[in-house]
Amino acid sequence: MLTKNPSETASPEAPAATKPHAAAGAARVDELVCYFEGDYVPLKDARVNIMTHAFMYGTAVFEGIRGYWRAEHQTLFALRVRDHVERIRDNARMLLMEDLPSVDELTGLIVETVRRNHFREDIYVRPSFYKSTRAIGVRLHDLEHQLYIVTLPFGDYVDTSGCRLMTSSWRRNADEALPARGKIVGGYVNMAFQKSEAELKFVIRDGVTITPPVTDDILEGVTRKAIMEIAHDEGLPVEVRSIDRSEIYVADEMFLCGTGVQISPVLELDHRQVGSGQMGPITRRLRDRYFDAVRGRLPAYRHWLTPIPEGD
Ligand SMILES: Cc1ncc(COP(=O)(O)O)c(C=O)c1O
Repeated sequence: MLTKNPSETASPEAPAATKPHAAAGAARVDELVCYFEGDYVPLKDARVNIMTHAFMYGTAVFEGIRGYWRAEHQTLFALRVRDHVERIRDNARMLLMEDLPSVDELTGLIVETVRRNHFREDIYVRPSFYKSTRAIGVRLHDLEHQLYIVTLPFGDYVDTSGCRLMTSSWRRNADEALPARGKIVGGYVNMAFQKSEAELKFVIRDGVTITPPVTDDILEGVTRKAIMEIAHDEGLPVEVRSIDRSEIYVADEMFLCGTGVQISPVLELDHRQVGSGQMGPITRRLRDRYFDAVRGRLPAYRHWLTPIPEGD
């Protein structure tokens, strides 16, 4: 797996430089409103007991959703909410959580949580279903669950103008160890060891855009799906197949994608240049289309965006 080492240049698309862990600043975080166990409450009051099963064992699933502020329309648009909502419901069921809110109900809760925060900037939303029973005992059955939704201002996570990577000696959880297609909180310890969120990758060789199949122990990526849609619309050939480490050494181009990373060209892997060592033409084309789409500049992708109504 890959360890990110972002370069130091700022991206032209980057909103105010924000780091995820410092995204809102302490004072601002206190003012944020979240959804917590059935109510909208100040984030500072959303507390769980240390006996909570999810805290004890990591038994929770989550999503990361971006919202992009569109200044011309004075409107915030959440990106591909339905995909994320469907995925978190699928993932929650993997942890034997039943009686989940419907896709429309959960979408409504997400939109309302964001609306109550009156943002006028790019944001991130994190819904999570977590095992809320206070209990010792490693299991998935006979446990209650609850939902929280946190949202906060959010800029670039990784440099979208290019990054340099190293191969990590830590291996990603295989599906036999932990469902790889699930965003399961406990599984992120594996990624913390890799110092990476193991974002999904695309490699370009001889004009063909290649990405691994979801059966290669990767997440069923929302951004990956969006990029495949753009590539298809642009008439670019896409191949879904496994990619070896050494194939990256001989690739013409490579980029990472994900809700957090957005699209980041990989300029170097293990101190070796990828292709020319610069952002390649196909990466640039896909990246530009992607950022135009998420910022609402392309009517063809307008259905990806959910407008957040004005707050009261
Ligand atoms: C492990 C992992 N893979 C891939 C992704 C790609 O994200 P998305 O499916 O939201 O595009 C993420 C980020 O959410 C991730 O955590």
